[in-house]
Amino acid sequence: MTKSFHSLSSASLPPSSSSSAFQRMRLVTKDEYNEFLKSHDSISIENAKVRLVRDWKIEKFEPEKFVPEEWTVWSFPDRGDWATHIGNYRGNWSPFIPRNLIHKYTSPCDVVCDPMVGSGTTLVECKLLGRNGIGVDINPDAIMVAMNRLDFESDQLPKQAKEAELRLYVGDARRLDLIKDETVDLIATHPPYCGIISYSKSNIPGDLSSLKLEGFLEEIGKVANECFRILKPGKYCAILIGDTRRRRHYIPINLGVLSRFLDAGFILKEDIIKLQHKMMSARGRWRGHSYDFYKIAHEHLYVFRKLGRNERASEFKYSKRWW
Ligand SMILES: C[S@@+](CC[C@H](N)C(=O)[O-])C[C@H]1O[C@@H](n2cnc3c(N)ncnc32)[C@H](O)[C@@H]1O
Repeated sequence: MTKSFHSLSSASLPPSSSSSAFQRMRLVTKDEYNEFLKSHDSISIENAKVRLVRDWKIEKFEPEKFVPEEWTVWSFPDRGDWATHIGNYRGNWSPFIPRNLIHKYTSPCDVVCDPMVGSGTTLVECKLLGRNGIGVDINPDAIMVAMNRLDFESDQLPKQAKEAELRLYVGDARRLDLIKDETVDLIATHPPYCGIISYSKSNIPGDLSSLKLEGFLEEIGKVANECFRILKPGKYCAILIGDTRRRRHYIPINLGVLSRFLDAGFILKEDIIKLQHKMMSARGRWRGHSYDFYKIAHEHLYVFRKLGRNERASEFKYSKRWW
């Protein structure tokens, strides 16, 4: 595996007074996961129960006829159920999203990081496509689900997949203290949307899903800074974000997120519209036709790039913050 991946395991940041309140990253081991499995058949995130599968019976390891996306509107009515992908973790994203991003922006053995990994969709794709993966989540139960989704082996996997090294950490995306500067090739992540889906009813300090909009955007700014720090120059950071409505008017959370990532130093490579099909969140509750607004059925998948060492920021003037 790549040198950079092996070098991830040592702490690289000195504790800083401004961020020392954040939970530090802790590697979750296979032994810890096996112990957990002895006493748990499932975990509950809010009111959603997720079963832990003992012995995966996998019928297919990849989507039938995968055609990489070419346009800036993505739609996956069939969200994808290959390998261990199951859509029962609240707000999990379609595996077609990380699959497309990994295909477009990485090569085998590159390092991919999802700092809000949830049920591990991104890392399952890393395993299948032979990329090294780092997953982090503030919720230890989410990490157990992710480990469960990665708990499969098969002769059908390509050789490079068998070599992929995957690590899961309980930790905070605002302080990725065990990941060294400029060691990651792709960040692909999907934060909670403030006030739309709660993951821990405020029981887990640092869970961004429990914040109100202003606080949420401030903390997303810290996530953006960490993403910028760990990413190699010239590489990509993709983040999926949705909007909401209050008092029947539109709240463009995506614009706040876009601003925070540009403020962190990224330039904008893509604004992809991802259509939504089945919505379990508050947005899904609107039914019928008698509203004075349109029901939101899209999210933004922003792809940012960190400038390469010899690139001049002025050349990308209008893909930076210019307004
Ligand atoms: C939308 S879900 C991610 C779903 C994931 N893409 C999947 O397919 O399962 C957002 C995740 O962010 C996690 N989260 C919330 N605040 C966090 C923080 N400060 N640091 C890391 N993870 C956080 C939540 O626990 C939740 O699992």
